[in-house]
Amino acid sequence: MSAASERTMSMSSQRGVFSSKTGFILAASGSAVGLGNIWGFPTNAAENGGGAFVLMYFVLAFCLAYPALMAELIIGRHTKANMVHALQIISPGRTSKIFGTLTGGYGILVASLILSFYSIVAGWMLAYLLEPLTTLAGLDDLSDWLTGNSIARNLLFTGLFLVLTCSVIAAGVEHGIEKWSCRLMPALLLMLAGLIVYVLMQPGAITGLKLYLIPDFSQLGDPKLIISALGQAFFSLSLGVGTMLIYGSYLRPEENLPAMGAIVTLVDSSVAFLAGLLVLPALFVAQQQGLNIYSESGSLMAGPDLIFQTLPALFAGMGKVGTLIALVFFALMSIAALTSSISMLEVPVSFTIENHATRRRSATWLAGIAIFAVSAVIVVNFTALFGLVVTLTTEYSQPLLGLLLCVFATWVWHRDMILEEIRSGHPEVEYSLFWKIWPGYAKYCCPLLIALVLSQSLSG
Ligand code: TRP
Repeated sequence: MSAASERTMSMSSQRGVFSSKTGFILAASGSAVGLGNIWGFPTNAAENGGGAFVLMYFVLAFCLAYPALMAELIIGRHTKANMVHALQIISPGRTSKIFGTLTGGYGILVASLILSFYSIVAGWMLAYLLEPLTTLAGLDDLSDWLTGNSIARNLLFTGLFLVLTCSVIAAGVEHGIEKWSCRLMPALLLMLAGLIVYVLMQPGAITGLKLYLIPDFSQLGDPKLIISALGQAFFSLSLGVGTMLIYGSYLRPEENLPAMGAIVTLVDSSVAFLAGLLVLPALFVAQQQGLNIYSESGSLMAGPDLIFQTLPALFAGMGKVGTLIALVFFALMSIAALTSSISMLEVPVSFTIENHATRRRSATWLAGIAIFAVSAVIVVNFTALFGLVVTLTTEYSQPLLGLLLCVFATWVWHRDMILEEIRSGHPEVEYSLFWKIWPGYAKYCCPLLIALVLSQSLSG
């Protein structure tokens, strides 16, 4: 055995593993549930025909994103490796191995870039989480600084958020990712439920609820709605860049993969749905209080103005309770962001550990610093770079990578190996509905449908 493969063997024998089913479900749902659910989903729904978007989203999440998620989980658990190594392992020939290496590297790059913009937005959440406290303490100058959009504030809080993310990842799979997901996810669900109940009792909430839930079916065939819903589903399930692949690689062989994937998809779409019950009614409560909820173009407020102006103004108008609500809301946002960002950071970190025989701690801080450097460049050139990075990574790269992963799982890899892999946690899978549908579906339908949507968005 060569020195390199011995080193890989000894590194992989130290690979982390999720200690329980619940640990995996909470960690993978933690990755999936993030700013995409609580901010992206409700505003996307409001812009694209309300209930019609919600309906389309659920269809696409289960019919397109779930099969792609399964491809990642199966490849991950079988290969027990990072994305580059995993795609090399399942590629039989020289050409496919090279292609696998390139695809894996592309995935790691995109995951790191997504983290670099995600941590900027998450940093804003942290700043807004502190603001009610400094206001209570009478530190008005500090409060103004926290909510002012200065480069210094953005750099500080992006850095702070990355330090939090690195601290969890440096502690490893079981003691970092799993432990913190198990603590934070229940807290997140409780906060979300509490906020929904409170907001729905306020005057004006029902108008928002109607807009959210009553479908405008005339928009159902609109390509823009379909593209937005698919992009939202892929982003929300953290697909394409190897996050779910690496989480799958820490999953024990006795777990039932199709069921795990289905639970994660269900939790993710349910939380997105619930977030809509909070954000849209809150907007109309704000309107009832005399705040403007439409942007200059006449569409409903959706971007940063919604989260960082309208909602804080609404909370401020609610007096003492409002301070508490603001605290809970931004704590919810920060937690959702953290359980997602750790899953992004694990992608480059696991690659560095396994490919360069580096210790987890050094690999983590090294990746953290590199990502912070990219975030800093984006912060300083915000107008030119932020939107560009978001579009390139989430709208184009993620669906493309999702497509490639489906191709690797079903065209490059062998069907019997997939069956064997799923069988270890689900012995009767051969006779299940999943096995009747998934292989052909992931082989033909998924790549085709993703390509179709991708070409639409490229031409649009
Ligand atoms: N899914 C998360 C959200 O909804 C974000 C996220 C975590 C992500 N890991 C990812 C997005 C990997 C793309 C790729 O906010």
